[in-house]
Amino acid sequence: MSQSIKFKPPSFDSLEANNKTHQYLLSDEAGFNKLAEIIKHLTGITLPSNDKNKTLMAGRVHPLLQKYQFKNYSELAHKLMVGGNKGLENAFISCLTTNTTHFFRESTHYDVLKDYISERVAKHDFTTNSFRAWCSASSSGQEPYSILFTLLNAGLPIEQLALEFLATDIDLDILQRASAGNYGQEEVEQLPASIRQIFFREFKNAKDQSSFRIASKFRKMINFAKFNLIQDKPNFKDKFDIIFCRNVLIYFEKDTATSVVDMLISQLKPGGLLFLGHVETGLLKNKNVKAISHAVYKKL
Ligand SMILES: C[S@@+](CC[C@H](N)C(=O)[O-])C[C@H]1O[C@@H](n2cnc3c(N)ncnc32)[C@H](O)[C@@H]1O
Repeated sequence: MSQSIKFKPPSFDSLEANNKTHQYLLSDEAGFNKLAEIIKHLTGITLPSNDKNKTLMAGRVHPLLQKYQFKNYSELAHKLMVGGNKGLENAFISCLTTNTTHFFRESTHYDVLKDYISERVAKHDFTTNSFRAWCSASSSGQEPYSILFTLLNAGLPIEQLALEFLATDIDLDILQRASAGNYGQEEVEQLPASIRQIFFREFKNAKDQSSFRIASKFRKMINFAKFNLIQDKPNFKDKFDIIFCRNVLIYFEKDTATSVVDMLISQLKPGGLLFLGHVETGLLKNKNVKAISHAVYKKL
C-alpha cells in the first residue's frame, strides 16, 4: 500500500498576504535605496535602482523581514545601521550575495593553471618549501575544489612541499556549505569519471538521493575563512603563487574593483598568477603584471 504524504498547500490568504508584502516592497523606493546603500557599504555590491534590482531585493529580503518580524525595509535598515547584531548583518549579506558557480567554470583557466604547474614541475621550479593558493570569492566551493583537482592532477609535488590553500568569501553561510563539500548528482555527473572516483565519495542524503562529498583527505587541504575583499586588510604570512578572484568584481564600481585587483597583485609572489573572471578584464592599471592569457596575469 502506498503511503500517503501529508502536504499542506499554502492557504489562499497567506499567498495573497505574501503578494501584498511583495507589492509593497517593490514600491518602497526610499527603503530600497537605504538597503542598497548599506549593502554597498558592507560588501561593495552595487544595486542601482531599477525594476530588476527592486524585484531581486524584494524576493531575497522578504524572508529575512519575516524571520526577524520587521514590517518593512526601513525597520531592517534601522537595525542594521544601529549595529550590534552580527547575525542579522551576516544574514542580510548572505541574502543579497549571488553565489552562482560550478565545477571548472570558465574552463580555459584550468588549462592555463595545469600548464603553469606542469612547467614548474618539469623545471623543479619550487624554490620555497610551500605552494600557496588563494581563491578569494570561493562561493559554495566548486571553484577551489576544481583548482585543487587541477593542482594535484598536474603533479604538484605535495610530498616535498606544503600546499597552503586558502579559500575565502564574505558570505558565512556559503562558506559552511563549501567546507562541507557536499554536491548533488547533477553537478558531479558532468565531471570526468576519473575525477569523481579519486576526489568524491558517494552517499545517500536525508531524502535517500545519491549525493557526493569531497573525500575528507582533500577537504582538509583547503582552509575556508571569511574575508571581505573591500574591507579586510590582507595580513597573510606569505605571498601567493596563484590567486583566483572571478565573477565578483562585476558587482563592484570600477574604482573599487581596480583597488581590489591592486590589492590582489600586491599579494602575489613574483612569477605568480592572478585569474579574474572572463568578463572582468580592463581593470588593470598595475604595471607589475603582464597578461599571459584571457583574464590571466603574471606578476613580474
Ligand atoms: C557569483 S559568485 C562567484 C563564485 C566563483 N568565484 C566563480 O567564479 O564561480 C560571487 C561570490 O563573491 C562573494 N562576494 C561578494 N562580495 C564579496 C566581498 N566584498 N568580499 C568577498 N566575497 C564577496 C559572494 O558571496 C559570492 O559567493
